[in-house]
Amino acid sequence: MKIGIVGSGNIGGTLGRHWAGVGHQVMFSSRHPETLQPMADAVNAQTGTVEEATKFGDVILLAIPFGKVPDVAQQVGTLDGKVLIDAGNPYPQRDGAVAQQVIDDPSQTATGYVSAQFSGAKTIKAFNSIYFKVLEEQAFQSEDARIAVQVCGDDEQAKATVTQLIEEIGLAPQDIGVLADGILFEPGAPLYNKNLPISEAKAILQQLR
Ligand SMILES: NC(=O)c1ccc[n+]([C@@H]2O[C@H](COP(=O)([O-])OP(=O)(O)OC[C@H]3O[C@@H](n4cnc5c(N)ncnc54)[C@H](OP(=O)(O)O)[C@@H]3O)[C@@H](O)[C@H]2O)c1
Repeated sequence: MKIGIVGSGNIGGTLGRHWAGVGHQVMFSSRHPETLQPMADAVNAQTGTVEEATKFGDVILLAIPFGKVPDVAQQVGTLDGKVLIDAGNPYPQRDGAVAQQVIDDPSQTATGYVSAQFSGAKTIKAFNSIYFKVLEEQAFQSEDARIAVQVCGDDEQAKATVTQLIEEIGLAPQDIGVLADGILFEPGAPLYNKNLPISEAKAILQQLR
């Protein structure tokens, strides 16, 4: 697959390296693409601007601070038909008014807000609930020891694509449901940032349902 990484820090950098390592075509981007060249060279990936990465990828990983989402959405324009993986979390102290507004509004989830910003994209929430060091150190496990990665979304085909991207790097996709079910693994929720083996994560989900 062609994967554009928007925000190539802790989460974006780690995932982009993993995906390039298993043979996907990856373009890393940020506001400073020149700084990403050594990381890209190490895994035979490319670098580009945010606009270039969103044009390049059939799948776009969004891993930027939540407060920057509206600006970046406006910057890139429509993402017609592309799969957008939303890995972000709203933290008002870090992300300011945008995050506070989303948290204070019981009618929407954080990922619903992100999805509404990116017109035309098929938004799938995933990787927001795994610590980047766990992602770095505990990927590529044998099947019985895999760490759960929660995933949800409204488009089944897009969700299947992201599920495959989780499996290919030795993690265990845990299908939580439609996009609105993202509330079950957003900050403060029972499944948020637990970094559990899939069997334990399933047990928690069962208690919630
Ligand atoms: N850290 C974790 O373990 C973890 C786990 C799961 C989810 N998350 C979530 O993932 C998101 C990213 O977290 P992170 O820890 O990966 O952050 P990070 O290491 O600070 O990386 C964020 C990246 O976004 C880029 N960026 C910032 N503003 C931008 C803009 N306006 N346009 C384009 N790129 C921009 C930055 O690069 P430049 O400064 O070069 O532009 C930076 O490399 C957050 O919402 C966080 O809550 C984090």
